[in-house]
Order: sequence, then C-alpha cells, then structure tokens
Amino acid sequence: MRIVIIGSGNVGSVLGRLCKQNEHEIIQVFSRHVNQAVSLAKELKCGLTDQLNCIDTEADLYLVALTDAALVDLKNHLFLGNKLILHTAGSVSKEVLKDISLQYGVLYPLQSLRKEMTYSEDIPFVIDGNSDAVKSQITDFVKTVSSNFSFATDEERIKLHLAAVIVSNFTNHLYALAEHFCNIEKIDFSLLWPLVKETARRVQLISPAIVQTGPAVRKDMLTIEKHISLLANHPELKALYQNMTDSIMKI
Ligand SMILES: NC(=O)c1ccc[n+]([C@@H]2O[C@H](COP(=O)([O-])OP(=O)(O)OC[C@H]3O[C@@H](n4cnc5c(N)ncnc54)[C@H](OP(=O)(O)O)[C@@H]3O)[C@@H](O)[C@H]2O)c1
Repeated sequence: MRIVIIGSGNVGSVLGRLCKQNEHEIIQVFSRHVNQAVSLAKELKCGLTDQLNCIDTEADLYLVALTDAALVDLKNHLFLGNKLILHTAGSVSKEVLKDISLQYGVLYPLQSLRKEMTYSEDIPFVIDGNSDAVKSQITDFVKTVSSNFSFATDEERIKLHLAAVIVSNFTNHLYALAEHFCNIEKIDFSLLWPLVKETARRVQLISPAIVQTGPAVRKDMLTIEKHISLLANHPELKALYQNMTDSIMKI
C-alpha cells in the first residue's frame, strides 16, 4: 500500500519502519517540526511535510500517530474523502476520524513502543473499523505487518488500554523508583534483572493472584516494618510501599 504516516514520534517511527520492511511504500511523513519530519523521511526514503494542509491525498492508507489531544483536533485540518485512515490511540474513539473520511478505524499497538528500540517479535495490534468492509481492509493490511491481531470496540479497547497502563507503565514506574533507590543506597540494580524476567515469565503461565510471593502475602510484619523504616528518606516510595502492601494483604 501507499502510506502516509502522520506523526514522527515513537509509534509513527516504529510503524513507518514496520510498513517499509514489509514492502509497503511510505510516500510521506508529517511532523509539525520539520527537522523531525526530515529525519524520519530520510530513514523511510519518502516525502515529508510539516503542514497538515500539504498532506498528500493520493495514498491508500493514512496512519495517525499523534498525541490524543492533537488527534482530536485533526478534523479541523484534514479531509480525505473516502481514503482509509486509522489512528493508534488506546483511549480515543474511532469516531474522532469520522469527519475526515468515510472509511476510518483503529490500529492500536498493544505494546510499549519506543523509536530507539528494534522489535523482533510481531507487534500485537488491536483493530476496529467503522464498517465490515473497512474492518476487512484493515485485516488484510495488518496481516502484512503482524500475525498477532485481534478486534475490539471503542469500549473494549479503552479497558484494554487501562489494563496496559497498569501492567506496563505502572510496572516500569516501579522499576524506575527501585533503580533510584538502589542508586542512592549504592546497590547494584542489575542484580534484580533475573527477578524481573522471572516475574514476567510466570504471569504468562499461572494467574498472578495465585503466585504472589513476598512479605505482604506472608503477612510478615517484622520484615515490612524493617523495610518501611529503611524508606524514611524516600517518602514517595514509602507511601507506595505501604499502599501496595495493604493491597496485597487485602487480596
Ligand atoms: N508509544 C507507545 O508505546 C504507544 C503504544 C500504543 C499506542 N500509542 C498511542 O499512539 C499515539 C502516539 O503515541 P507516541 O508514543 O508515538 O507519542 P509521541 O512519541 O509523543 O509522538 C506524538 C506525536 O504527536 C505530535 N504532536 C503532538 N502535539 C501535536 C500537535 N498539536 N500538532 C501536531 N502534532 C503533534 C508530536 O510531534 P512533536 O514531536 O513535534 O511534538 C509527535 O510526532 C498516542 O495516541 C498513544 O496513546 C502509543
């Protein structure tokens, strides 16, 4: 397909590369910052623009990877007739695209994507379209870039996105706090990597509710009190430790 990528951030960059690797032709990228458009366009060997009203209207597919606020505003700047346009947001209705084209939908990557990373495994996509014909077109397209895809309505996708925030963004935040604690306390954070791996592996085999370990599930108050006193100089982490401990104890 001839594709225009709207947005040169993490998702725009990763999707652009994925489409190109799978023999699609990227004809143009849009970024409001011309230097970022130039950098991605060089990599994808395609045209570029930093003006929404200069977007090429001759593509088969438009992939919109903008922040949610910019996505909501897009209808004020773009009209594509009946060209297929898809956004990548987890928590924004597909209807946000209904004034831009007659054929619209969602290509939501259910994966944490960063443009500086490479992805060796198929990216899982959650897709939706405004008609059966559009869903079928999106299915044909997604099969060319990934073997891992599923369908979800707007209502289902926002719930998936919320769960994704908890398992990925919140977990990563806990890693960041633990790394900071280790740095301050002169402990080697990398000693914890096997534990990080094992916890992520196990959750795929057995319900996490069943395999919880640690002082909270054992109701080991002696250890919990020692940990809390160690966190005297880390008030944010202390509050989180107490909340998480209470939550585990309740379950
Ligand atoms: N990254 C992920 O892991 C991930 C996974 C699944 C879904 N998503 C969804 O994909 C979408 C894009 O996420 P992302 O991670 O790629 O975000 P990002 O890296 O922050 O990129 C967002 C893009 O939107 C552009 N933008 C922001 N405000 C704009 C405006 N007012 N007008 C025009 N362009 C504007 C940014 O341009 P500048 O660079 O010029 O600011 C940038 O190109 C979001 O809806 C997100 O929820 C992300």
